Amino acid sequence: MPVTPEDISKVIVTIKNYSSYDFSQYSKKSFTRRIEKVLIDYRLDIDKLINSIKNKPEFIEDLVRSITVNTTELFRDPRLWQTIRYRVLSKLASNRKINIWHAGSSTGQEVYSMLILLNEMGLLDQANVFASDINTDVLKKAKIGEYSYRFNLEYFENFDKVIKENPFKLDEFSEVPYEKYFDVNKLNDTIKVKDFIRKKPVWLKHDMVTEGNIFNTKFDLILCRNVLIYFDTDLQNRVINTFYQSLFRNGILLLGVHESIMGAITNNFIKSGLVYQKKK
Ligand SMILES: C[S@@+](CC[C@H](N)C(=O)[O-])C[C@H]1O[C@@H](n2cnc3c(N)ncnc32)[C@H](O)[C@@H]1O
Repeated sequence: MPVTPEDISKVIVTIKNYSSYDFSQYSKKSFTRRIEKVLIDYRLDIDKLINSIKNKPEFIEDLVRSITVNTTELFRDPRLWQTIRYRVLSKLASNRKINIWHAGSSTGQEVYSMLILLNEMGLLDQANVFASDINTDVLKKAKIGEYSYRFNLEYFENFDKVIKENPFKLDEFSEVPYEKYFDVNKLNDTIKVKDFIRKKPVWLKHDMVTEGNIFNTKFDLILCRNVLIYFDTDLQNRVINTFYQSLFRNGILLLGVHESIMGAITNNFIKSGLVYQKKK
């Protein structure tokens, strides 16, 4: 039986009543697809699914893991990383401290990209890097920092574009070996982030829908990339407002390359390309 909008509403209301999670403003299309997959994977119908949500608290955590989309990669969208390097971090270099928050950090590749870049720019020691996600499984994987070599060969192309090449000075090339940051084991099909990078970030379980800034600090830079696409417009604006409140004056917000800020809240930022700067 196909899942109806009424079924989806029942699932959302039950999750809300039996946990701290609120998926009522997630995009219905993507949420419905994920629930359909859960029904197949767990061999359930809607009534049994709702029963499990009501009676098995640990099932709700499984459900959250199944609902969230965790696709990510190292130096994803290299052009944005060039912007981060040459237009964002270069301006923060004179700060005594640089506070960075990766909201929706998934399995950690975005965070490690940032740390590698900070290290190449000589900014690692002055950076405080926080990373958060709603999904405890991806946070566990992120902390371990080990990825498949074979499946992620394009990581190295991205790495070259951001770390080795300078798009503004084509004759400049830095010879940075991958082994500076990763233990590469082709035989075991793994790359593992080296400890001096891996131990640096603070990883936290955090739900950006129901929780505000829990970090006891404000930020110079917040990245929330490829998360807002799963939210409706109203929720996007609420979350962006949390980020706005969490930024220092002139702080920068970076979204995914296919995401943008819309509506009245745009007046709070100066937009330049993909960079949103908090207005004074
Ligand atoms: C597609 S991944 C994006 C990862 C990374 N930012 C990137 O662009 O490569 C989206 C992540 O957002 C997380 N997420 C979804 N809803 C969330 C919420 N309410 N609070 C915190 N994280 C959330 C998911 O668990 C997932 O790991």
